[in-house]
Amino acid sequence: MKVIITKDYDELSKEAFKVMKDVLDSKKDAVLGLATGSSPEGLYAEMVEDHKKNGTSYKDVVTYNLDEYVGIDRNDPQSYYTFMNDHLFKDIDINPENTHVPYGDTAEDAKKYDDEVKGVDIQLLGIGNNGHIGFNEPGTPFTERTHIVELTDSTREANKRFFDNDITKVPTKAISQGIGTVMDARKILLIANGENKADAVKAMIEGPMSIECPASVLQTHPDVTVIIDEAAASKLTR
Ligand code: F6R
Repeated sequence: MKVIITKDYDELSKEAFKVMKDVLDSKKDAVLGLATGSSPEGLYAEMVEDHKKNGTSYKDVVTYNLDEYVGIDRNDPQSYYTFMNDHLFKDIDINPENTHVPYGDTAEDAKKYDDEVKGVDIQLLGIGNNGHIGFNEPGTPFTERTHIVELTDSTREANKRFFDNDITKVPTKAISQGIGTVMDARKILLIANGENKADAVKAMIEGPMSIECPASVLQTHPDVTVIIDEAAASKLTR
């Protein structure tokens, strides 16, 4: 696991962009695994700026997102489908048919999506305060594939900021790539910023590998880059 510590979020986003750009430069039909949430917003802004300034093309790029809420419409402002369009897809030259965000609420929907996710060159991840990756909450087996998830109260609490700060408006379920699906990616890039991520980051990097911290599974992946700001790194001891 390669760990890069940056002074702030801006520098983190620029470092993450360098890793992403290397993949895009090495393969014009790269397959990108993408995440939503606050963590990747700066990276997506860097990608959009680079596309506009330098013409980096996404014409042949394919994307697979990690997860989506169950029970809200695709075109709802809070759906991850809308997030991806707003923060990235609408501002680059990607073919909408090449973009994939999971959708549905049944085991069949999950299996169908899992079968589609193939050949991911780089998987971008954030990390939850409780160590989740995707929406794989603590206790999820490391071998799990795409599945329907019951969100924990801590995740719903952390995400209520996108729902008028009202936890009752946060969906209780999501469809998420499983840890097994995530681990199939050739390369993994995890980004985290802020003090509220410091415990999860420490457990991921220094803790024992345990399903209690889903991100700790990354200790066994052969190609992981973790980019964190000083606040998220503040509890590391080595
Ligand atoms: C989002 C996802 C989640 C987030 C995590 C951190 O697609 O899979 O695991 O990466 O909850 O969220 P933020 O970045 O909002 O702190």
